[in-house]
Amino acid sequence: MQHFLSIFLLFLVIIQALPVNCCIEHERQALLKFKDSVSDPSDRLASWSGNKCCNWAGIRCSNTTGRVIKLDLQNSYFYFDEYSDYPWNNHSLSGKISPALQILSDLEYLDLSYNNFSANKFPKFISNFKYLNYLNLSSTGLSGIIPHGLGNLSKLQYLDLSGMPDAFVSNVWWLSQLKSLKYLDTWKINFLDSREWAQALNTLPLLQTLYLGANNLTTIPASINGPNFPSLKILSVWDNSFTTRIPDWIGNLTKITELLLWNCSFVGPIPSQLDNLASLETLVLSNNNLEGPMPPLHNLRNLTQLWIGDVNIGQDIREVMSKLSNDTLDKLQVLRLYNSSLHGNLTGWVSKLRSLITLDLSNNNLDGTIPTEIGNITSLETLDLSNNFFTGEFSKAHVTGISNLKVLYLDFNNLNGTIPTEIGNITRLET
Ligand SMILES: *[C@@H]1O[C@H](CO)[C@@H](O)[C@H](O)[C@H]1NC(C)=O
Ligand SMILES: *[C@@H]1O[C@H](CO)[C@@H](O)[C@H](O)[C@H]1NC(C)=O
Ligand SMILES: *[C@@H]1O[C@H](CO)[C@@H](O)[C@H](O)[C@H]1NC(C)=O
Ligand SMILES: *[C@@H]1O[C@H](CO)[C@@H](O)[C@H](O)[C@H]1NC(C)=O
Ligand SMILES: *[C@@H]1O[C@H](CO)[C@@H](O)[C@H](O)[C@H]1NC(C)=O
Ligand SMILES: *[C@@H]1O[C@H](CO)[C@@H](O)[C@H](O)[C@H]1NC(C)=O
Ligand SMILES: *[C@@H]1O[C@H](CO)[C@@H](O)[C@H](O)[C@H]1NC(C)=O
Ligand SMILES: *[C@@H]1O[C@H](CO)[C@@H](O)[C@H](O)[C@H]1NC(C)=O
Ligand SMILES: *[C@@H]1O[C@H](CO)[C@@H](O)[C@H](O)[C@H]1NC(C)=O
Ligand SMILES: *[C@@H]1O[C@H](CO)[C@@H](O)[C@H](O)[C@H]1NC(C)=O
Ligand SMILES: *[C@@H]1O[C@H](CO)[C@@H](O)[C@H](O)[C@H]1NC(C)=O
Ligand SMILES: *[C@@H]1O[C@H](CO)[C@@H](O)[C@H](O)[C@H]1NC(C)=O
Repeated sequence: MQHFLSIFLLFLVIIQALPVNCCIEHERQALLKFKDSVSDPSDRLASWSGNKCCNWAGIRCSNTTGRVIKLDLQNSYFYFDEYSDYPWNNHSLSGKISPALQILSDLEYLDLSYNNFSANKFPKFISNFKYLNYLNLSSTGLSGIIPHGLGNLSKLQYLDLSGMPDAFVSNVWWLSQLKSLKYLDTWKINFLDSREWAQALNTLPLLQTLYLGANNLTTIPASINGPNFPSLKILSVWDNSFTTRIPDWIGNLTKITELLLWNCSFVGPIPSQLDNLASLETLVLSNNNLEGPMPPLHNLRNLTQLWIGDVNIGQDIREVMSKLSNDTLDKLQVLRLYNSSLHGNLTGWVSKLRSLITLDLSNNNLDGTIPTEIGNITSLETLDLSNNFFTGEFSKAHVTGISNLKVLYLDFNNLNGTIPTEIGNITRLET
């Protein structure tokens, strides 16, 4: 009897383990149809044969139901080059996405990124994958309207639709239904009617990361009613064209650590509300039609990157630096204030930047001598002081400490003297 019981138990264990390797026949058939409909020049789907579809490359099955829950066909051999908008190469799958895939209705994870599916309209059936929590279709070349049905994906946490310039968001409100969403990237997707994008997204309770780049957004509301992006940590908005002021509600995003508002045709002052954002680590306001003066930013004690280039600040740089606390100066790693109508000199403040990696003050009206203290910033890798009115020498004393330097631009200044031979000892120098 005991013997029988242990055999029975063993049998149970086998039954339990079975689905892990075997797979559901109609799901296997669907995957094979998908394989048949794509071209796979580097044979990434070579393992897709035989019965054990749960072991095929990119597939994972549920260990309880045996059904496919993960399909990860990301083309990880990508490279971007300057000639191509797409990361496609001879490792990309391409061709038709077989509608047979819709049978995989237990999918939780779907990644087709960096493959060339430009022959396809955005597949509507993805809206039926109601357990999906990760969807990555980045740079897949899909075209047409993004189905509003995606709003039904109530478990979706990560949605990456970046790099699809032929796809459109026709109406933003379906996005407001994605109550589990933590991460959204829509770079290059054209929002046909973008007026209410902020109102559609500001209520999402868990949204932490929002990338909006080159979406043809033209409006940003001056005020927001109700919740104000309660969980937002990263807001990155670039290559859009608002031609309005940076709205005051920016100052209510108190959890934000990265705020990037780059090349968005913002006008008006650099908002004083920025000083409310005490968690801010990266602040980028470059390439806007903003105007100085620089507001006080004494509360931003965790700031490590400050980019305000191509902005008309128009102040003495020492005044600008006095808007940052001594703590901030001590931690700052990247300071880019190029082409910002700054005057004044580097005396008295530059030596406080003891963690600096990048200093770009090019294309301003700065003058005076370059303090030798700069040679004590041992972390410095990029120093660009070009196109200013600096005078005097750049000597041995400047060079001895900055042994990590990779990039040095001093051109278009009024420097004199000899170039110190010690420069030849900066072995990491590239430029
Ligand atoms: C893929 O392309 C690279 C260079 O573009 C080439 O060297 C390589 O042989 C190609 N591989 C295949 C499988 O075609
Ligand atoms: C099933 O898989 C999950 C992770 O996906 C794991 O935590 C769990 O222990 C597994 N259960 C069994 C019975 O293998
Ligand atoms: C992408 O796929 C389309 C259609 O399938 C094809 O015409 C095009 O040449 C492919 N592009 C690249 C870069 O592979
Ligand atoms: C989507 O895939 C691309 C390329 O594989 C990757 O760079 C990106 O980080 C992925 N997005 C998410 C949200 O994981
Ligand atoms: C961007 O939006 C404007 C107005 O909303 C429209 O006129 C223009 O055609 C759009 N651009 C693209 C590339 O769709
Ligand atoms: C910021 O939040 C405060 C309090 O939550 C609210 O009174 C104020 O109206 C908000 N400001 C903006 C510009 O939304
Ligand atoms: C600043 O950074 C420290 C260390 O990462 C962290 O503990 C602290 O909470 C941050 N301060 C704010 C206001 O976010
Ligand atoms: C920063 O430190 C200097 C002395 O190095 C001091 O005079 C100045 O008041 C400090 N600034 C702030 C904002 O604490
Ligand atoms: C920097 O500017 C201040 C104020 O104009 C001046 O007192 C100081 O001499 C200048 N330093 C150098 C090195 O030119
Ligand atoms: C550089 O730092 C050293 C040691 O901290 C110090 O003795 C020296 O005076 C500093 N040099 C300059 C130019 O600040
Ligand atoms: C460089 O110019 C300064 C004045 O700007 C002058 O005092 C110094 O002697 C010059 N040095 C050399 C080596 O010509
Ligand atoms: C460069 O480094 C070498 C070896 O470390 C040293 O002997 C030499 O004096 C240095 N040259 C200069 C100009 O500092």
